[in-house]
Amino acid sequence: MSSESSVLECRNVTAHYDIGKGIRVRAVDDVELSVKGREILGLAGESGCGKTTLMRTIYRDVSPPLRVVSGSVTIRVKDGEEIDIYKLSDAELRRIRAKVLSYIPQGSMSVMNPTSRVKHQFFEVFRKYGRFKKGEILQQVKGRLQELGLRESILESYPHQLSGGMRQRTVIALATIMNPSVVLADEPTSALDVVYQRGVVEMIQNIRDMFGTSFIIVSHDMGLHNQITDRIAIMYAGKIIEVGKTDGIFSDPLHPYTEGLINSIPRIGGSKKLEGLSGLPPNLANPPPGCRFHPRCPYRMEKCAIEEPPIFRIGDRVVSCWLLEGK
Ligand SMILES: Nc1ncnc2c1ncn2[C@@H]1O[C@H](COP(=O)(O)OP(=O)(O)OP(=O)(O)O)[C@@H](O)[C@H]1O
Ligand SMILES: [Mg+2]
Repeated sequence: MSSESSVLECRNVTAHYDIGKGIRVRAVDDVELSVKGREILGLAGESGCGKTTLMRTIYRDVSPPLRVVSGSVTIRVKDGEEIDIYKLSDAELRRIRAKVLSYIPQGSMSVMNPTSRVKHQFFEVFRKYGRFKKGEILQQVKGRLQELGLRESILESYPHQLSGGMRQRTVIALATIMNPSVVLADEPTSALDVVYQRGVVEMIQNIRDMFGTSFIIVSHDMGLHNQITDRIAIMYAGKIIEVGKTDGIFSDPLHPYTEGLINSIPRIGGSKKLEGLSGLPPNLANPPPGCRFHPRCPYRMEKCAIEEPPIFRIGDRVVSCWLLEGK
C-alpha cells in the first residue's frame, strides 16, 4: 500500500455492467480511494453515480453483468499482512469476509432472515466463519450487545418484531461481531426516521471508538456525512471527483459538483431558494467526453468538454477539475 496508515486501498478500479447488445454501463471508472485505520470515510453522490457498484467491487461481490475490468483492492489485516482481494481463492475470500472485511448492503432490512430469531442469525455468522460452541457464542454475543447498548431480549425476537432502527442496529451488530478491520455500509440510515438515524450514527461511532473499526459509509445524504464522517469522497458518474476532510469539504468545496451537492442541502429555517444542481447525471452507457460533469457545470470552460481533468492534489485534498490546474 502506498500509505502506512491505510487499511484499504483501491487502485485504478474500473468496473462495468455488460448488459448485452454491446452496451456497457461504466459504473466505476478508474477509482483511487483509501481508508485509514479507525476512519469513517463517507462516499457521497447522486443516485446512480456508482456508489453501490464500488462497494460490491471492493467486497468482490461481482457476478454478471458486473465485471471488474482492471485495478486492485488491497486490505491490511491485523498482523500487518496485505491482501489483494482479487488474488484470493474463493475459500480464502470467504475466510476474510466478516473477519476482515464486512459488507452491509443497501436495503439491509431485507438481509436478515425473516423466519429466524436474531440469535440464530448470530449463530449463522459464527457457523460460516468460525467454529465455536453455542453456549460460548451466546455469551460473546450478549457481551457485545451490552457494549453496544442493545437489549439482550432482541436475541429472542424475529426481525419483524424489531423497530426499523433496532433492526438496522442489529444488522450492524451482526456485521461487526467478528471485529472486521473495515465495514462497508451502504445507505445504513436511508430507510429510517431522523430519531432512529441518530441511534445508528452513535452506534457506528461507538464501534469505531471501541474496536478501532474503519467504515465506508455510503449515502446520498450530505447531512449524514457531516454528522458522522472524518473524510468524504465525492463520486460523480462513476468517478471520484473530490476527496477531503469533512470540515474542509463543507467549508470550502473545490469541485463545482461538490459545491452543488452542499448547496442542495435544505437548511432548517432557511428561506433562501436552494441553489443546488441543475440537470441530471449522464447515462453511464454513453458518458460525455472530457469532464463528465461539464454539461451541468456553471464554470465550464472549452477544455472541459474535450479533455478529462487529471487528479490535482491541493494540500490533503484531491480534486479532478480543470479549475484547479496550476493552483
Ligand atoms: N445490475 C445492473 N445491471 C445493469 N446496470 C446496473 C445494474 N446495477 C446498477 N446499474 C447501473 O450502474 C450505475 C450505477 O449504479 P449504482 O447502483 O452503483 O449507483 P448508486 O450510486 O449506488 O445509486 P443509489 O444512490 O440509487 O443507490 C447506474 O447507471 C445503474 O443504472
Ligand atoms: Mg446504491
